[in-house]
Amino acid sequence: MANLDWEGKKVSEKNKLGLENIKPFHTLDVYPSSDYGHLEKDLWYNLLIWGENEAILNSIMPKFEKQVSLIYIDPPFATGGDFNFKIQIGEHGKSIDKVAYKDKWEKGLDSYLEFLYNRLVKMRQLLKPNGSIYVHLDWHISHYIKLILDEIFGIDNFRNEIIWAYPAASVKTRRFFIRSYDTILFYSNSDDYIFNDDPNIYMEYSNRVKNALKKDEEGIFYYRGGSHNGKKLSRKVYVQQEGIFPRDVWNDIPYIRANTKEYQGFSTQKPERLLRRIILASTNENDIIADFFCGSGTTLAVAEKLRRRWIGTDINKHTIHMSRKRILNIGESNNILKWKENYNRKPHSFRVLSLSKEDNTEFISKDFLKKGIQIEPVYTSQNLPELRIDLQQNNKTVIVELLDYNLPYQKLISREIRDKIISFSDFIDYWAIDYDFEDNLFNNMWFSFRSGKKRELKLKSTPYNYEQNGLYNLSIKLIDIFGTVTQNSYTINI
Ligand SMILES: C[S@@+](CC[C@H](N)C(=O)[O-])C[C@H]1O[C@@H](n2cnc3c(N)ncnc32)[C@H](O)[C@@H]1O
Repeated sequence: MANLDWEGKKVSEKNKLGLENIKPFHTLDVYPSSDYGHLEKDLWYNLLIWGENEAILNSIMPKFEKQVSLIYIDPPFATGGDFNFKIQIGEHGKSIDKVAYKDKWEKGLDSYLEFLYNRLVKMRQLLKPNGSIYVHLDWHISHYIKLILDEIFGIDNFRNEIIWAYPAASVKTRRFFIRSYDTILFYSNSDDYIFNDDPNIYMEYSNRVKNALKKDEEGIFYYRGGSHNGKKLSRKVYVQQEGIFPRDVWNDIPYIRANTKEYQGFSTQKPERLLRRIILASTNENDIIADFFCGSGTTLAVAEKLRRRWIGTDINKHTIHMSRKRILNIGESNNILKWKENYNRKPHSFRVLSLSKEDNTEFISKDFLKKGIQIEPVYTSQNLPELRIDLQQNNKTVIVELLDYNLPYQKLISREIRDKIISFSDFIDYWAIDYDFEDNLFNNMWFSFRSGKKRELKLKSTPYNYEQNGLYNLSIKLIDIFGTVTQNSYTINI
């Protein structure tokens, strides 16, 4: 069989997992179980993991080898571009655009291919024998990756090259045809793989068909048409009402628009309907789905709504935070099977993990500072953001109010951002309370955050009633618009 070669290719033996590559995870946040808990009986919680995905793949391997039913990835495509996300500030519609990731490969194509090859080998190790992988790419790179997938998964396990066609934005070129589709490569792990003929994956009829449809006496749809020996006929052709079983060209799913509920302000965000088709076709309820380049969390949100278990990872802490909020806000999002309705349910329990310990000495990114500022790190242990609160206690009831959040380096922040800040609370994106912080596990028992559409932040918590007397460690965690986390704990005597 022909294999693709590139400079620096180390064939897959080296990818065999060595124990030295396994590192422990740190639990940054716990989101306790919700009001319906059928998954909790197995003590399962979904996972959102911040970090470099090669290291994460190594470290989850002992637990998840051959456990995952579906992997969808939408990695950087080697486009050479920068991709943005929006940081919204305060309540008054102000925002700045920041680069989420740079899709530039200094050592060129070879380094990109080595990057993805390494990870794809490990992903296959995670898949169940009846599992599948969908790799979302475009014209830049999909032809190379198809050869790599043939090598890793076997040419016989290639199932589809899906063309997701969407109307292209107006492009000035008159030198070639306008590019207006992405490619999704679908491979199964074996010949015996899950593939569901579910009416919810069907494509809508074309307008031509819809206009021509009629109902017979029993209410079944048909149109007049068909052909025989090249001759057009006018006989009744019955159709299934849900639409047609999907072809490999998907032109019925529009690109994300900014005025939709699902929009997260992330420039490479993919539509939930795309993931709906993939997830319903290739998994069953409770199966584990993983996305190692999860971005704004599209795969995770759709998996959650379809009652699948999920694992999402991303290297960028802002997109991890975006995914966290998207899951917490899931009740307000579209019901994935009845699009015009809200989902209206709380998420299953999940945890945010990281391979490196999060601490307060992390740097604020240069991107947010005035041009030419040399001081890095801006934080030192003597120079941390200050959080001031008022803790109101009445017998066993406690209310927490945020009074101030003060950044030590405020004067260094770029004008572009400072001009948009009216009050201290505009710096705050999220805060949460653990009323009984123990064992270094932060349980987000009460929280308030700003989301794309709901910008208001509650500065005062709702009353919390302790059941028993005793000394408690009440802990507060705050995430600011720069992604910096501050956590303070207070002993209270109930
Ligand atoms: C094209 S975006 C994914 C968009 C996502 N499908 C969505 O709907 O929002 C690619 C993501 O991969 C992440 N990424 C790039 N390299 C990574 C790496 N080595 N490990 C983990 N995540 C990575 C980027 O931070 C970015 O969020």
